[in-house]
Amino acid sequence: MKNLPVIIDTDPGTDDAVALFVAKALNINVDTVVSVCGNVNGSYTHKNVVDLNSFLSLNANVLKGADQPLSGNGFTAEEVHGENGIGGVILPLAKDNAGNIEELHHTLKRLKRADVITLGPLTNIAYILKEHPEVKANINSLTIMGGGFEISNIPNNAEFNFGCDPEAIRTVLCSDIDITIVPLDVTHKIYLSKEEIKDICGFEIDKTDSSVYGVISEIMYYNYKTSIAKNDKGALIHDATAVLAYLFPEYFEGVYGDIFVDEFGATTFKSDGNIKVLFDVERDLVMEKLKKCFTKGY
Ligand code: RIB
Ligand code: CA
Repeated sequence: MKNLPVIIDTDPGTDDAVALFVAKALNINVDTVVSVCGNVNGSYTHKNVVDLNSFLSLNANVLKGADQPLSGNGFTAEEVHGENGIGGVILPLAKDNAGNIEELHHTLKRLKRADVITLGPLTNIAYILKEHPEVKANINSLTIMGGGFEISNIPNNAEFNFGCDPEAIRTVLCSDIDITIVPLDVTHKIYLSKEEIKDICGFEIDKTDSSVYGVISEIMYYNYKTSIAKNDKGALIHDATAVLAYLFPEYFEGVYGDIFVDEFGATTFKSDGNIKVLFDVERDLVMEKLKKCFTKGY
């Protein structure tokens, strides 16, 4: 059972939105959500964090994170997530009371010990570790969606989150924090067909409504359509998979080692290290948990 408060760093993003829904539905104690530029530009990812925090009743503190990677220009993925990052879905407008990224180290000190889950580029975490290295003592575990060993999704054999900010992930990987990497090699085993989406969330592709279940299923179907258009086998909910890997590590198999990250963010696994890299998953158990998220009283 996980009982530490959790900080989620995210770049919503259709699969990030599903991940935040899963975190709420499975009662993760989300203390703070931090926005980061990634899938779409920082103004949209931040708006999506603010609106999703309210719409999903996460009721977490919100911090506005980076609009640019530590180095380079970064890139976005509107072709996957839509112009606004959540498949064009318009959420009820929430008031933006976000603090700035400088507050993240105060948050970690206030919480004393917290688990961190990152669903976007590692820019914010790297920034805080550089500016306030002492906060390492407050991070109990760090679960990172990112990287890809046999699979890539951007040029130069890289994965999006690592490729957006290679310097940031390099900084985080050598921080000696208890890190679990959830790479594409695992998340691509959880792709969802249209039929599975309907089975999980109970909505046909064109019969959604404005409830949380209806909106999240609409976002999942959007992810399905753009994933298929990119010749993927179904909806890819990378970030929801990372949240489930945090909650149910027993469903996943991993190896310990180290990771070399090249200038494009491409990763090479090296044995002999303390970083846990997941490589396999009990797909049926994960699907059961996803379905459970849609059958609780939202
Ligand atoms: O490569 C997939 C990752 O990049 C996911 O987190 C997706 O949301 C994007 O951020
Ligand atoms: Ca993401």
